[in-house]
Amino acid sequence: MYNAFFGFRESPFNLTPDPAFLYRSQQHEEALANLIYGVQSRKGFVVLTGEVGTGKTTMLECLQDFLSAHRIDFAYVFNSRLTVDQFFEMVAYDLDLQCNRSSKTDVLIALNQLLIANANEGRTTALILDEAHNLEWDVLEEVRLLGNLENRRGKLLQIVLAGQPEFDRKLDAPALRQLKQRIALRCMLRPFREAETFEYIQTRMAKAGMPNQTVFPPELIAEIHLRSQGIPRLINAICDNLLLTAFAMESKVATREMLDEVSDDMRLEWPGKAIPVSRPRFSRDIREPAV
Ligand SMILES: Nc1ncnc2c1ncn2[C@@H]1O[C@H](COP(=O)(O)OP(=O)(O)OP(=O)(O)O)[C@@H](O)[C@H]1O
Ligand SMILES: [Mg+2]
Repeated sequence: MYNAFFGFRESPFNLTPDPAFLYRSQQHEEALANLIYGVQSRKGFVVLTGEVGTGKTTMLECLQDFLSAHRIDFAYVFNSRLTVDQFFEMVAYDLDLQCNRSSKTDVLIALNQLLIANANEGRTTALILDEAHNLEWDVLEEVRLLGNLENRRGKLLQIVLAGQPEFDRKLDAPALRQLKQRIALRCMLRPFREAETFEYIQTRMAKAGMPNQTVFPPELIAEIHLRSQGIPRLINAICDNLLLTAFAMESKVATREMLDEVSDDMRLEWPGKAIPVSRPRFSRDIREPAV
Protein backbone atom coordinates (compact mmCIF):
# COMPACT_ATOMS: atom_id res chain seq x y z
CA MET A 1 0.00 0.00 0.00
CA TYR A 2 2.72 2.46 1.04
CA ASN A 3 5.50 0.86 -1.03
CA ALA A 4 5.37 3.32 -3.93
CA PHE A 5 5.24 6.30 -1.55
CA PHE A 6 8.46 5.26 0.21
CA GLY A 7 10.06 3.72 -2.88
CA PHE A 8 10.17 0.14 -1.53
CA ARG A 9 10.45 -2.86 -3.85
CA GLU A 10 8.45 -4.84 -1.30
CA SER A 11 7.10 -4.33 2.19
CA PRO A 12 10.00 -4.29 4.69
CA PHE A 13 8.09 -5.61 7.69
CA ASN A 14 6.05 -8.57 6.54
CA LEU A 15 5.10 -10.97 9.31
CA THR A 16 6.11 -14.08 7.35
CA PRO A 17 9.31 -15.94 8.39
CA ASP A 18 11.03 -15.13 5.08
CA PRO A 19 14.78 -15.99 4.92
CA ALA A 20 15.18 -13.37 2.16
CA PHE A 21 14.80 -10.72 4.90
CA LEU A 22 17.09 -12.45 7.35
CA TYR A 23 19.03 -10.24 9.72
CA ARG A 24 22.06 -12.22 10.75
CA SER A 25 22.33 -11.20 14.38
CA GLN A 26 25.09 -13.04 16.19
CA GLN A 27 22.65 -15.23 18.07
CA HIS A 28 20.62 -16.08 14.94
CA GLU A 29 23.86 -16.84 13.11
CA GLU A 30 24.99 -19.11 15.94
CA ALA A 31 21.61 -20.83 16.21
CA LEU A 32 21.55 -21.58 12.49
CA ALA A 33 25.16 -22.81 12.57
CA ASN A 34 24.23 -25.12 15.45
CA LEU A 35 21.18 -26.50 13.66
CA ILE A 36 23.19 -27.17 10.51
CA TYR A 37 26.09 -28.67 12.44
CA GLY A 38 23.74 -30.85 14.49
CA VAL A 39 22.13 -32.29 11.36
CA GLN A 40 25.30 -32.63 9.30
CA SER A 41 27.36 -34.25 12.01
CA ARG A 42 24.51 -36.64 12.87
CA LYS A 43 24.20 -35.57 16.46
CA GLY A 44 20.71 -37.01 16.87
CA PHE A 45 18.55 -34.50 18.73
CA VAL A 46 18.94 -30.73 18.48
CA VAL A 47 16.65 -28.35 20.37
CA LEU A 48 15.98 -24.68 19.61
CA THR A 49 13.97 -22.67 22.11
CA GLY A 50 12.96 -19.03 22.29
CA GLU A 51 10.17 -16.72 23.36
CA VAL A 52 7.19 -16.13 21.07
CA GLY A 53 8.20 -14.19 17.96
CA THR A 54 11.99 -14.34 18.38
CA GLY A 55 12.66 -16.10 15.06
CA LYS A 56 12.52 -19.88 15.61
CA THR A 57 10.44 -20.63 12.52
CA THR A 58 12.63 -18.24 10.52
CA MET A 59 15.67 -20.28 11.58
CA LEU A 60 13.91 -23.49 10.55
CA GLU A 61 13.09 -21.95 7.16
CA CYS A 62 16.80 -21.12 6.72
CA LEU A 63 17.72 -24.66 7.77
CA GLN A 64 15.33 -26.08 5.19
CA ASP A 65 16.89 -23.88 2.49
CA PHE A 66 20.29 -25.26 3.47
CA LEU A 67 19.07 -28.88 3.49
CA SER A 68 17.36 -28.50 0.10
CA ALA A 69 20.48 -26.91 -1.39
CA HIS A 70 22.55 -29.84 -0.09
CA ARG A 71 20.02 -32.43 -1.23
CA ILE A 72 19.42 -33.67 2.30
CA ASP A 73 16.04 -35.41 2.69
CA PHE A 74 13.87 -33.97 5.42
CA ALA A 75 10.34 -33.95 6.77
CA TYR A 76 8.99 -30.73 8.25
CA VAL A 77 6.16 -31.03 10.74
CA PHE A 78 4.83 -27.55 11.49
CA ASN A 79 1.42 -28.49 12.84
CA SER A 80 1.99 -29.79 16.33
CA ARG A 81 -1.64 -30.54 17.16
CA LEU A 82 -1.40 -34.00 15.64
CA THR A 83 -2.32 -37.50 16.67
CA VAL A 84 0.32 -40.20 16.36
CA ASP A 85 -1.28 -41.45 13.10
CA GLN A 86 -1.44 -37.96 11.60
CA PHE A 87 2.18 -37.39 12.59
CA PHE A 88 3.34 -40.50 10.72
CA GLU A 89 1.17 -39.59 7.76
CA MET A 90 2.83 -36.17 7.54
CA VAL A 91 6.31 -37.64 7.81
CA ALA A 92 5.46 -40.17 5.08
CA TYR A 93 4.05 -37.45 2.86
CA ASP A 94 7.06 -35.16 3.23
CA LEU A 95 9.60 -37.93 2.65
CA ASP A 96 7.49 -39.27 -0.20
CA LEU A 97 7.38 -42.74 1.32
CA GLN A 98 5.64 -45.20 -0.99
CA CYS A 99 3.46 -47.12 1.45
CA ASN A 100 0.07 -47.09 3.06
CA ARG A 101 0.52 -43.73 4.77
CA SER A 102 -2.36 -44.24 7.16
CA SER A 103 -0.72 -47.34 8.66
CA LYS A 104 1.90 -46.51 11.27
CA THR A 105 3.55 -49.92 10.80
CA ASP A 106 3.82 -49.45 7.03
CA VAL A 107 5.25 -45.96 7.45
CA LEU A 108 7.81 -47.18 9.98
CA ILE A 109 8.95 -49.98 7.67
CA ALA A 110 9.24 -47.63 4.67
CA LEU A 111 10.98 -44.99 6.77
CA ASN A 112 13.48 -47.50 8.08
CA GLN A 113 14.26 -48.61 4.53
CA LEU A 114 14.78 -45.04 3.39
CA LEU A 115 17.03 -44.24 6.36
CA ILE A 116 19.21 -47.28 5.77
CA ALA A 117 19.41 -46.65 2.02
CA ASN A 118 20.35 -43.01 2.61
CA ALA A 119 22.92 -43.93 5.28
CA ASN A 120 24.50 -46.49 2.93
CA GLU A 121 24.96 -43.73 0.38
CA GLY A 122 26.42 -41.47 3.07
CA ARG A 123 23.35 -39.25 2.99
CA THR A 124 21.69 -37.70 6.02
CA THR A 125 17.95 -37.62 6.71
CA ALA A 126 16.31 -35.08 9.00
CA LEU A 127 13.03 -34.54 10.78
CA ILE A 128 12.17 -30.97 11.78
CA LEU A 129 9.42 -30.27 14.28
CA ASP A 130 8.21 -26.74 14.92
CA GLU A 131 6.00 -25.74 17.87
CA ALA A 132 7.35 -28.74 19.77
CA HIS A 133 5.93 -27.41 23.07
CA ASN A 134 2.46 -28.29 21.75
CA LEU A 135 3.28 -31.86 20.74
CA GLU A 136 1.23 -34.49 22.54
CA TRP A 137 3.13 -36.74 24.93
CA ASP A 138 2.49 -39.84 22.82
CA VAL A 139 3.80 -38.09 19.70
CA LEU A 140 6.92 -37.01 21.61
CA GLU A 141 7.41 -40.62 22.66
CA GLU A 142 7.27 -41.68 18.98
CA VAL A 143 9.78 -38.96 18.16
CA ARG A 144 12.10 -40.30 20.85
CA LEU A 145 11.82 -43.81 19.40
CA LEU A 146 12.61 -42.50 15.93
CA GLY A 147 15.71 -40.93 17.40
CA ASN A 148 16.82 -44.37 18.55
CA LEU A 149 17.21 -45.69 15.02
CA GLU A 150 20.90 -46.02 14.42
CA ASN A 151 23.57 -48.00 12.66
CA ARG A 152 27.20 -48.43 13.65
CA ARG A 153 28.18 -45.04 12.35
CA GLY A 154 25.56 -43.01 14.15
CA LYS A 155 21.96 -41.87 14.25
CA LEU A 156 19.96 -42.55 11.13
CA LEU A 157 17.52 -39.70 11.63
CA GLN A 158 18.55 -36.22 12.77
CA ILE A 159 15.76 -34.58 14.72
CA VAL A 160 15.40 -30.83 15.22
CA LEU A 161 12.82 -29.67 17.76
CA ALA A 162 11.89 -26.00 18.04
CA GLY A 163 9.57 -24.56 20.64
CA GLN A 164 8.78 -21.95 23.23
CA PRO A 165 10.65 -21.97 26.56
CA GLU A 166 7.96 -24.17 28.12
CA PHE A 167 9.25 -26.97 25.90
CA ASP A 168 12.39 -27.01 28.05
CA ARG A 169 10.18 -27.34 31.10
CA LYS A 170 8.18 -30.12 29.40
CA LEU A 171 11.45 -31.97 28.84
CA ASP A 172 12.03 -31.90 32.58
CA ALA A 173 8.99 -34.12 33.12
CA PRO A 174 9.96 -37.61 34.32
CA ALA A 175 8.21 -39.20 31.31
CA LEU A 176 10.53 -37.34 28.94
CA ARG A 177 13.83 -37.78 30.73
CA GLN A 178 15.00 -40.32 28.16
CA LEU A 179 14.41 -37.82 25.38
CA LYS A 180 16.08 -35.05 27.39
CA GLN A 181 19.18 -37.18 27.90
CA ARG A 182 19.51 -37.68 24.15
CA ILE A 183 19.65 -34.01 23.26
CA ALA A 184 23.09 -33.42 21.86
CA LEU A 185 22.84 -29.71 21.08
CA ARG A 186 20.73 -26.87 22.40
CA CYS A 187 20.37 -23.31 21.26
CA MET A 188 18.24 -20.45 22.46
CA LEU A 189 16.97 -17.22 20.97
CA ARG A 190 16.49 -14.20 23.21
CA PRO A 191 14.93 -10.85 22.32
CA PHE A 192 17.19 -8.30 20.57
CA ARG A 193 19.37 -5.84 22.46
CA GLU A 194 18.95 -2.20 21.48
CA ALA A 195 21.88 -2.18 19.04
CA GLU A 196 20.42 -5.28 17.35
CA THR A 197 17.01 -3.65 17.00
CA PHE A 198 18.76 -0.77 15.18
CA GLU A 199 20.55 -3.13 12.80
CA TYR A 200 17.44 -5.24 12.36
CA ILE A 201 15.36 -2.26 11.21
CA GLN A 202 18.17 -1.00 8.96
CA THR A 203 18.61 -4.45 7.41
CA ARG A 204 14.93 -4.92 6.62
CA MET A 205 14.61 -1.39 5.20
CA ALA A 206 17.73 -1.94 3.07
CA LYS A 207 16.41 -5.28 1.75
CA ALA A 208 13.14 -3.55 0.83
CA GLY A 209 15.03 -0.94 -1.20
CA MET A 210 16.03 1.85 1.22
CA PRO A 211 19.73 1.34 2.11
CA ASN A 212 20.11 4.41 4.33
CA GLN A 213 16.75 4.66 5.90
CA THR A 214 15.61 7.99 7.30
CA VAL A 215 12.00 7.10 8.10
CA PHE A 216 12.79 5.96 11.65
CA PRO A 217 15.09 8.44 13.46
CA PRO A 218 17.50 6.88 16.03
CA GLU A 219 15.59 8.16 19.07
CA LEU A 220 12.38 6.68 17.69
CA ILE A 221 14.09 3.30 17.16
CA ALA A 222 15.22 3.38 20.79
CA GLU A 223 11.57 3.88 21.78
CA ILE A 224 10.42 1.11 19.38
CA HIS A 225 12.96 -1.17 21.02
CA LEU A 226 11.60 -0.38 24.48
CA ARG A 227 7.98 -0.87 23.48
CA SER A 228 8.61 -4.09 21.52
CA GLN A 229 11.03 -5.34 24.17
CA GLY A 230 13.27 -6.45 21.32
CA ILE A 231 10.85 -9.07 19.98
CA PRO A 232 11.25 -9.18 16.18
CA ARG A 233 7.59 -9.91 15.45
CA LEU A 234 6.48 -6.92 17.54
CA ILE A 235 9.12 -4.70 15.91
CA ASN A 236 7.71 -5.71 12.53
CA ALA A 237 4.13 -4.99 13.55
CA ILE A 238 5.03 -1.60 15.06
CA CYS A 239 7.16 -0.51 12.09
CA ASP A 240 4.57 -1.66 9.56
CA ASN A 241 1.87 0.32 11.37
CA LEU A 242 4.16 3.34 11.59
CA LEU A 243 4.83 3.24 7.85
CA LEU A 244 1.10 3.06 7.21
CA THR A 245 0.40 6.00 9.53
CA ALA A 246 3.22 8.08 8.04
CA PHE A 247 1.92 7.32 4.55
CA ALA A 248 -1.62 8.32 5.55
CA MET A 249 -0.23 11.64 6.83
CA GLU A 250 1.96 12.04 3.73
CA SER A 251 5.07 12.20 5.90
CA LYS A 252 8.37 10.52 5.02
CA VAL A 253 9.38 10.44 8.68
CA ALA A 254 7.70 8.56 11.52
CA THR A 255 7.25 10.51 14.75
CA ARG A 256 6.82 9.88 18.45
CA GLU A 257 3.14 10.94 18.23
CA MET A 258 2.57 8.33 15.52
CA LEU A 259 4.26 5.72 17.71
CA ASP A 260 1.99 6.64 20.64
CA GLU A 261 -1.05 6.20 18.41
CA VAL A 262 0.20 2.88 17.04
CA SER A 263 1.05 1.64 20.55
CA ASP A 264 -2.49 2.48 21.70
CA ASP A 265 -4.03 0.71 18.71
CA MET A 266 -1.84 -2.34 19.34
CA ARG A 267 -2.57 -2.23 23.10
CA LEU A 268 1.17 -2.46 23.74
CA GLU A 269 2.45 -2.85 27.26
CA TRP A 270 6.08 -2.25 28.18
CA PRO A 271 8.10 -1.72 31.35
CA GLY A 272 7.77 1.82 32.66
CA LYS A 273 4.72 2.62 30.55
CA ALA A 274 2.88 5.50 32.17
CA ILE A 275 -0.56 4.40 33.27
CA PRO A 276 -3.07 6.82 31.77
CA VAL A 277 -4.79 8.82 34.50
CA SER A 278 -8.51 8.39 34.09
CA ARG A 279 -10.00 11.77 34.69
CA PRO A 280 -13.69 11.95 35.65
CA ARG A 281 -15.65 13.55 32.88
CA PHE A 282 -17.58 15.85 35.24
CA SER A 283 -16.21 17.03 38.55
CA ARG A 284 -18.89 16.68 41.18
CA ASP A 285 -19.78 19.79 43.12
CA ILE A 286 -19.14 18.89 46.72
CA ARG A 287 -20.36 22.14 48.15
CA GLU A 288 -23.39 22.03 50.30
CA PRO A 289 -26.44 23.07 48.36
CA ALA A 290 -27.48 26.59 49.17
CA VAL A 291 -30.48 26.68 51.39
N1 LIG B 1 16.83 -12.78 12.40
C1 LIG B 1 15.73 -12.35 11.80
N2 LIG B 1 15.80 -11.72 10.62
C2 LIG B 1 14.70 -11.28 9.98
N3 LIG B 1 13.46 -11.41 10.45
C3 LIG B 1 13.32 -12.03 11.64
C4 LIG B 1 14.43 -12.54 12.37
N4 LIG B 1 13.97 -13.09 13.51
C5 LIG B 1 12.64 -12.94 13.49
N5 LIG B 1 12.24 -12.29 12.37
C6 LIG B 1 10.87 -11.91 12.00
O1 LIG B 1 10.08 -11.90 13.18
C7 LIG B 1 8.81 -12.48 12.95
C8 LIG B 1 8.63 -13.65 13.90
O2 LIG B 1 9.54 -14.68 13.56
P1 LIG B 1 9.20 -16.23 13.69
O3 LIG B 1 7.83 -16.50 13.16
O4 LIG B 1 10.32 -16.97 13.08
O5 LIG B 1 9.20 -16.37 15.28
P2 LIG B 1 8.90 -17.65 16.16
O6 LIG B 1 9.93 -17.67 17.22
O7 LIG B 1 8.77 -18.85 15.30
O8 LIG B 1 7.49 -17.27 16.80
P3 LIG B 1 6.41 -18.25 17.47
O9 LIG B 1 6.92 -18.56 18.84
O10 LIG B 1 5.14 -17.43 17.53
O11 LIG B 1 6.27 -19.46 16.60
C9 LIG B 1 8.76 -12.88 11.48
O12 LIG B 1 8.13 -11.87 10.77
C10 LIG B 1 10.22 -12.95 11.08
O13 LIG B 1 10.37 -12.60 9.75
MG1 LIG C 1 7.18 -20.15 14.99
